[in-house]
Order: sequence, then structure tokens, then C-alpha cells
Amino acid sequence: MSAANTQPIPNPLLEQPDFAVPAELEREIDELITHYPRKRSASLMLLHAVQGRFGYISRQAVEWIAGKLEVEPINVYELVTFYPMLHEQPVGKYHLRVCRTLSCALGGAYALHGHFCERLGLDPHAHGPQTTKDGKFTVEFVECLASCGTAPVMMCNDAFYEGVSEQKADEILGGCK
Ligand code: FES
Repeated sequence: MSAANTQPIPNPLLEQPDFAVPAELEREIDELITHYPRKRSASLMLLHAVQGRFGYISRQAVEWIAGKLEVEPINVYELVTFYPMLHEQPVGKYHLRVCRTLSCALGGAYALHGHFCERLGLDPHAHGPQTTKDGKFTVEFVECLASCGTAPVMMCNDAFYEGVSEQKADEILGGCK
């Protein structure tokens, strides 16, 4: 066997920053799990607790949570990829989420997303999350935010905005100190 064939296969889990859960968070999580008849039912609560501490759910965090819940990592990962409030990557201090599902798309969501991107020096044609170099803003499209009659709608962190014009978008940005 050649030396090239003995190189270890890259493991993306090992390329991420160390993931260590502080003891008090682990105690909180262990207590949370006792609130549910089945450990798996606590999945979303654990994801929120971990994201609340680290800001996002890394692959290592997925593995750790799966171990706590005695499920397969895919059972946790599928939740992270399904729910728009859960992040696989770190996001900026202000997270701007623009709905792009049908009503909002027809109501100007793409122009609104483009407006944010142009104001923040990001690519208006990108579809995935983009974060400004200073880490202050993340802009991304999300799917239906359940207010289709007031399109276009968006969120800035936990605040919800309806019928967002470019002027209102600028006001939202202006409020992000
Ligand atoms: S389509 Fe945007 S809120 Fe439903």
C-alpha cells in the first residue's frame, strides 16, 4: 500500500471548533428531558437550549444531542434542517429572514431581499444565508412565515414585520444598532 493510501479520511466533525457543553447547561438539559414521557419528545427543547448557548447547532452538537436523547443523529439533524429558526452555521447579531413563498414572492420578496443585500454589500442573487464581514447581519430567504395575506413579510431576529416596503426595510436596518 502506498503512503498516499494510508492518509486518514477527512472527518468534517473534527474540522469544527471544539464543542463542549458546560456543566450547568448539561444539568438544565438533563432536567428538561425529565419533563417528557419519551426522551425524543424533548428534541426541540434541547435544540433551543443548545442554540441559545452556542448561537447555532454544529454537527458535533447534533451528535451530542442525539446521544442525550438516545436517537440517531439523523433524527436530530432533520429537525435542524426543517425549522428555519434553527441554524447550522453562526448567524449575525441581526438575522433578517425574508419569506419567499408564493404570496410573498408575488408581493415583492425578491426585491426586498435584493434591497437588503444591496444595502449591506451582499450578493442579491444568492439564495442561501449570507453574513456581512463584520458579523452584524445575516440575510436569508425562508419559507412561509404564516402571514401570507400581508406579504411581503420578514423577521429581524424575533420581531415580525408585515407589508415591508423598501422604506420600512431601511427603518428596520436603522433600528439595528
Ligand atoms: S407566503 Fe410569505 S408568509 Fe406565507
